[in-house]
This record gives sequence, structure tokens and C-alpha cells, in this order.
Amino acid sequence: MSQGLFPFLSKDFPWRDRISWYDSIDSTNDEAKRLARTGAPHGTVLVAGHQTGGHGRRGRSFHSPEGAGIYLSVLLRPQCPVQQLMHLTCAAAVAMCDAVEDSAGFRPGIKWTNDLVYRGRKLGGILTELGFRPDGALDFAIVGIGINCLQRPEDFPPEIRDMAGSLAQFSPIPIHPEKIAAAMARHLWNMDCRLLSHKEDFLNRYRQDCVTLGQDVVLLRGDTRRYGQALDIDSEGALVVRFGQGNTEHVSSGEVSVRGMYGYL
Ligand code: BTN
Repeated sequence: MSQGLFPFLSKDFPWRDRISWYDSIDSTNDEAKRLARTGAPHGTVLVAGHQTGGHGRRGRSFHSPEGAGIYLSVLLRPQCPVQQLMHLTCAAAVAMCDAVEDSAGFRPGIKWTNDLVYRGRKLGGILTELGFRPDGALDFAIVGIGINCLQRPEDFPPEIRDMAGSLAQFSPIPIHPEKIAAAMARHLWNMDCRLLSHKEDFLNRYRQDCVTLGQDVVLLRGDTRRYGQALDIDSEGALVVRFGQGNTEHVSSGEVSVRGMYGYL
């Protein structure tokens, strides 16, 4: 792939001059952090066709082969306290469902909190990372998204083959990674415009897309497993879970990992 996403963006797309394309990079999130620390502006977008050190939550690696996926990060400098941004990953997940629907012709679901899924397979993931000033104020937020575009089942490494999928496996139309990348940038810009003013709207849309709700789930915290039912997403993006004893808890994504009772979802 080349820098071919530009034809899919209008000439007056506000972030157009802030988009950089990398044939290969360690991680678009890591590069965005480096750029953030040297003063890069809000709306800086990095798009790569290959990552040598792509990573996800909990230090897991994110398989980022050349020519098969899109790896994109945006640097945001929200003018608000971090407490008002707890819904950022949820808003980005909804924006990515919109982007896939626009450019690939079907709408994926969201596995709480940050996985894009379809028919039981993970199509992509989102990693949000924050940077703070010495005085503790929020300096920047980076939202990084990886989407599997063209892989066939046999292209995935054996350890993720049972749960990974790509847009091309499900799309009714041919997949062009450049077009996907342009749609991602457009919908992230759209999200950014409404992030603070339409928080409830994002959360309601997240609830509609979230395939975890209503499911029996296992909560993994260290070596501890607890079983419950996922009821709702609260106003901070936490998962509301009812346990066997009838008590409910709001669990945040940093604390636990959630699995379906009968597999990945
Ligand atoms: C996850 O599955 O836990 C999240 C994966 C996030 C991967 C994206 S790819 C672009 C950006 N760069 C990274 O190193 N990670 C994110």
C-alpha cells in the first residue's frame, strides 16, 4: 500500500495536513507519543502498513503484518480534565464501527471494552494511552486502532487463528485498506468534534453495538475468576456486572479482563 488514503479524503478534511504515512514503523502509538512530547498538534494522525512492535492492552502484542491491516493512531490534546474523558475508548469504538460500516459495508460489534468483533471473531482493537504534564494535568491522549483488513484464516498465527478475523472475510464488497484508513480518520475527526458535548449519545450507541451486554461472563483478575452477567455500561464506560448472589459491581477495563462463558466473546 502507498499513501493512497488521500484520494479518499476530501481536500478540505481538517486533519489532512497532519496525516503521515509509514510503510513500516515500530508502533504508531509509540511514535505518536514521541511526537506528542516534541509538541505535535492535536489531530496528528499516523497511519502504517506494517508494525514491528504493535501492542495492545496489558502489554500484549498486536499482530501487524505488512499489506494486510491498517494501523492508525491519532494524537488528541483535549482541553479538559482526564475525569471527563473516561468514555474516550467507547467513543472511539463507536467511531470505528461507523468507519467499517461506511467503508466495508457491514457493521461490526464491540466486545467490551475495546475489541471490534464480528461473528465471534476479533477484527481489530483499540489502545488508548494518556500522557500527563509534570503538574499532573492531562497533556495528550493517543487513540490507536489496528484493523485486520485482508487476511485469510490461514494468514493468522496459530495462537490467534481461532478467534481472529478480517474485514475481507465478511465484507460484501472488495476491501481497500486505504479506503478503510480514510474512513477511520474521518470518523475519528467526527468523534473528536462531539467528544465532550455528546457523551451520552456515544455511550448509548456503544450500548447498542456492545455484544458483551446480556452475556454470561467470566471476570479474570490475576488468578481469580468470578462469574456473572453483563448488564450495562455505566456513564464512565465501566461494565455493570451482576453476580450470582444478586449483587452488582461496576468494573473498569483496567481492573479485569472479561471473557464469554463459552469462548472469546
Ligand atoms: C488490543 O487489541 O488490545 C488493542 C490493539 C491496538 C493496536 C493498535 S495498532 C495501531 C496502534 N499501535 C499500536 O502499537 N497499537 C495500536
